Amino acid sequence: MRLSARIWALGLLAFAASSVSTVAEAQASGDAARGARVAYTCLGCHGIPNYNNTYPTYRVPKLRGQHPEYLVIALQAYRSGERSHGTMNANAVPLTEQDLADVAVYLAGPVVAPAASAAPVGTPPAAAAVCVACHGNDGVGITPQYPTLAGQYPDYLARALTDYKKGGRKNAVMSGFAGQLSDKDIKELAAYYAAQRPSLDTVPKRNNRFFAR
Ligand code: HEC
Ligand code: HEC
Repeated sequence: MRLSARIWALGLLAFAASSVSTVAEAQASGDAARGARVAYTCLGCHGIPNYNNTYPTYRVPKLRGQHPEYLVIALQAYRSGERSHGTMNANAVPLTEQDLADVAVYLAGPVVAPAASAAPVGTPPAAAAVCVACHGNDGVGITPQYPTLAGQYPDYLARALTDYKKGGRKNAVMSGFAGQLSDKDIKELAAYYAAQRPSLDTVPKRNNRFFAR
């Protein structure tokens, strides 16, 4: 990636870190037990490993281990239409801020911690040089607002990057970075981050103490 793009990335990093801190504070306290009830319908898709979105086909993202603060931001974006996806827009619209906070802590569960080993799995593709500032070498988002990518489905990661690039997702930070990626870069980055461990996971649907009630 060009040097100018890197300098720009650092500026954005500082901007993003300062502008999102209030959001994080607001969402720190969700009620997981209440969130489990809100999440009942969500698990029809997010509770099944390898469940596919159809037209186009790519897997429904793993949410277990994700930063809850990021999940809230993502849901707000579906609710406002900043992210365009028919089903997720419909699912997010009825949710209140409290619902979002509660469902996010429930779905996230224990958050993925950075890898114990400093060495990432495999060699980062050249295009990852700029990404690691926010998503880490091991794919664990370095702040609670930056999504963890480690172990996420590669087809979902590629879809997300393509959406940032083509405008299906409007996000000031990510559209800039994704706009510079070729289809080949997107494929390599998606495969690389999907291979990192420890990994995100599917939200367990059964043997769940909230559902046992
Ligand atoms: C019919 C299947 C389906 C249902 C039901 C569903 N989702 Fe989703 N969800 C998806 C798909 C597909 C995506 C990826 C959409 C995209 O491409 O942006 C997604 C994306 C998400 C994301 C973004 C994850 C990320 O890494 O950015 C969150 C958070 C989420 N869903 C939460 C929920 C919640 C909470 C509910 C219930 C209120 C729910 N979903 C119900 C299919 C579903
Ligand atoms: C300045 C920090 C920053 C940098 C650098 C950055 N990202 Fe992101 N990334 C973010 C933020 C913030 C989001 C969440 C945006 C949103 O709310 O949709 C995100 C979202 C994503 C997502 C969507 C994850 C999901 O679960 O839906 C992917 C994939 C991604 N970034 C990959 C990359 C790649 C690949 C690069 C390098 C080319 C990169 N990012 C560079 C901050 C960054």
